[in-house]
Order: sequence, then structure tokens, then C-alpha cells
Amino acid sequence: MTLTSTPHIDPQGVPIAETILLPGDPLRAQFIAETYLEDPRCFNRVRGMLGYTGTYRGRQVSVMGTGMGLPSIGLYSYELIHFFGVKNLIRVGSCGTVQPYIDTYDVVIAQGASHDSNYMEQFGLTGTYAPLSSFRLLSQAARLATERGITHHVGNVFSSDVFYNADTAHNTDWASMGILAIEMESAALFANAAYATGKLGHPVEALGIFTVSDNILRGVRTTPQERQTAFTEMVEIALDLE
Ligand code: ADE
Repeated sequence: MTLTSTPHIDPQGVPIAETILLPGDPLRAQFIAETYLEDPRCFNRVRGMLGYTGTYRGRQVSVMGTGMGLPSIGLYSYELIHFFGVKNLIRVGSCGTVQPYIDTYDVVIAQGASHDSNYMEQFGLTGTYAPLSSFRLLSQAARLATERGITHHVGNVFSSDVFYNADTAHNTDWASMGILAIEMESAALFANAAYATGKLGHPVEALGIFTVSDNILRGVRTTPQERQTAFTEMVEIALDLE
């Protein structure tokens, strides 16, 4: 079902593409649209959550902010999928690594997203659901990163509800299970895509690509300016996915 507007998205006639890039920060969405897309048109300003549609290498693509946390990306991705027909959703964001062999500016590509959230309760499952990204998008992203000589890591990330933890072991314990990095959104995005695939009867695919912005073990943080190069590599992988 395509709606003209939802509680959080009011495109006012501007189309939304089947493929969308989803940074957390709406100003990043504006930057990506103005830097990479031809003829970008703004399709959303509700709550300042900017969204744009334009053309990249002859293909219509959208980009929109999601805000931070599972509930925020959960509601935006739900509306994009169920009310505006979006089929490929690629989160592009930052993450904090918990592995000693991963450096700041490396790229992490999420194969799965473990989490500490109640988000999955809504699906009423009797076991524990493991949110996974789309293998089609994942394998393309890993191939592009390899071809471009980008240092990257593919595996499990941890989507946390908490940025400032009362107990730091909360994050580092996950390192012992091979978690590559911590971020705050992918589990909800992957679960929404999986649910929609079953509900709508066509594939809805999601992926998360990240730039490592901090090393939680070493207490290292990058500045927004320093992240720009790795940010560019990540966005260019996302835009080149087919
Ligand atoms: N995104 C970037 N760094 C993060 C961290 N340390 N925890 C959660 N999300 C992050």
C-alpha cells in the first residue's frame, strides 16, 4: 500500500526510491544527497528527519536520516517499507569496535545484529530471533570493499539500547562472542526487513555498513572531520550495491 503521507514522513508528491541509504544523522542524509545524487529533491522534513530522492549513475536512489536507536529506525523503516514500497534499505553509520584487531576508520559490514533490546518481543516468537542482513547485499558489499582495497570486517555487530553504560562490561562481554562492533540500530532494521518479506510476499532486504568511529577497548575516538574519508568509502559501497 502506497500512502501519500504517514505520521513521520510527508513526501508531498516527491517519490521515494525502492533503494534507500539510511544514515542516523539527517544532516548526513542531506550531505550524501547533495554530494552524490543528481537532482536531489527533499521528500521529508517532518521532525527535521531529512530525506531526499535523486539519481545515482542513472538509478533512482533515496537517502534519509533515521535518528538513533532501535525504536527510531524501527518506525522510519516500517513506514518506508509498508507505506512507500521501499525494498532495499542500507544503513550507513558509525560504530565503536570492541576487537583489538579492528582499527578506527576500518569498515564493518554487518552479517548479523545481536542486541539487548525488547524490540523483537512484538513478533511474538517463542525462541530468540537472530536478525541477519541480506546475503545478496552483504556479499556484494564485501566484494566491492575487497576490490577497492578497503580494510573491512564482516560479521556480527551488537545493536545496543545504551550508549552510556553504567557497567562497561556490558559492552566488552560481547567481544568474547566475536562481536565486531557496537552500534544502535541494525537489529531493528534487519528484523523489520525479514518481517516485511514474509508479510508482503516480496523480498525486502537490509544491510548495515559502518565506519569505526571509536575503539571502546582502547578509549580512542575520532573527530567528525577525521571520519570523512572512511565515511566516503562506506557511502560509495552502499551506492554501488545493485
Ligand atoms: N556508535 C559509535 N560508537 C558507538 C558506541 N561506542 N556505542 C554505540 N554506538 C556507537
